[in-house]
Amino acid sequence: MRAALIDRFGGPDELYVGEAPVPEPAADEVLVKVLAAGTNPLDYKIRDGSSGIAKKLTPDDFPLILGRECCGVIEALGSGVTGFEVGQTVFGMPALTHPAGCYAEFVAMPIDCLAPVPDGADPILFGGTALVLSTALTAAVDQGRVQQGEKVLIHGGTGGVGQLSVQLCLRAGAEVWATASTRNQDRLVELGAHPIDYSTQEFTQVSPKMDLIIDGAYFDTFLPSLDHLVDGGRIVVLPSLADLSPAKERGIEAHIPVFGPMPDRLAALAPDIAAGALSIEIARVLPLEQVADAHRELETGHSRGKIVLDLRA
Ligand SMILES: NC(=O)c1ccc[n+]([C@@H]2O[C@H](COP(=O)([O-])OP(=O)(O)OC[C@H]3O[C@@H](n4cnc5c(N)ncnc54)[C@H](OP(=O)(O)O)[C@@H]3O)[C@@H](O)[C@H]2O)c1
Repeated sequence: MRAALIDRFGGPDELYVGEAPVPEPAADEVLVKVLAAGTNPLDYKIRDGSSGIAKKLTPDDFPLILGRECCGVIEALGSGVTGFEVGQTVFGMPALTHPAGCYAEFVAMPIDCLAPVPDGADPILFGGTALVLSTALTAAVDQGRVQQGEKVLIHGGTGGVGQLSVQLCLRAGAEVWATASTRNQDRLVELGAHPIDYSTQEFTQVSPKMDLIIDGAYFDTFLPSLDHLVDGGRIVVLPSLADLSPAKERGIEAHIPVFGPMPDRLAALAPDIAAGALSIEIARVLPLEQVADAHRELETGHSRGKIVLDLRA
């Protein structure tokens, strides 16, 4: 099969499209013919060796297929699989400890990470859904415990996770402020947030103190955010390698999302995703051969919505 591979950690130029064996599904897995694979900052952090996952890889894991979420059609069932059938369209993300790589024509995925795609829905949209939706649910609902009437600020409100976090907090009945650069202010308004342009405004000056802050940016935003919480306020910081100790030292509740597959929750929200009631913005669709361009754009830290690889060609 065709797959986007790396032979070693490094820059985007390490990515190449080559041949790899079609994986054999284990008893509790299905073989998925990938239609679309979402790209995420996590992917370039694995590619360059900086993520926690990358540090656990051994030379035997190379050549390595990247990609941690996809949408595809079930091609074959593992020997112990029930409840799924060949020909069914599914989407999901494997557990972080599972070696599945989605930048490929086929991937073996455990059934406990897969949810059905509603009939007729766009596979490109669902290719870019599982990881960001799981992250936003963890950040806003599980760790952030967003409540009706609360004030919430989201740094990076037009990124993949940020856009869904804004919408989940609004759904919970919170009032939401969100930051982005000038060119993305329109999208913040479209999503229903009070827009803050971080390139011309100080969020501390133009918004009230918050009950909850979801910080997708971290470097410039984390410390000032701690001073922008009400007493008892919570902060959820998205980058996995963030240092939460300044919050903990002040007794502020702080989290980094850590989560496993949540197929039932993804399945429950899939109709809303398909209908656009929960909007996932697909900013770019690229063929597998242009995967390095996707990584270059993600690495700027200023990509908007999702960049999805189209494997259908
Ligand atoms: N812990 C986990 O399990 C987990 C899961 C998913 C993601 N993450 C991490 O969460 C972060 C966000 O992920 P993502 O997929 O949403 O990334 P993304 O799609 O690349 O979005 C990043 C967004 O941040 C905005 N941004 C950049 N600098 C900013 C600043 N100084 N202030 C406010 N916003 C700023 C950008 O908007 P502009 O273009 O307008 O600047 C961009 O839309 C990444 O570091 C990712 O690795 C962690």
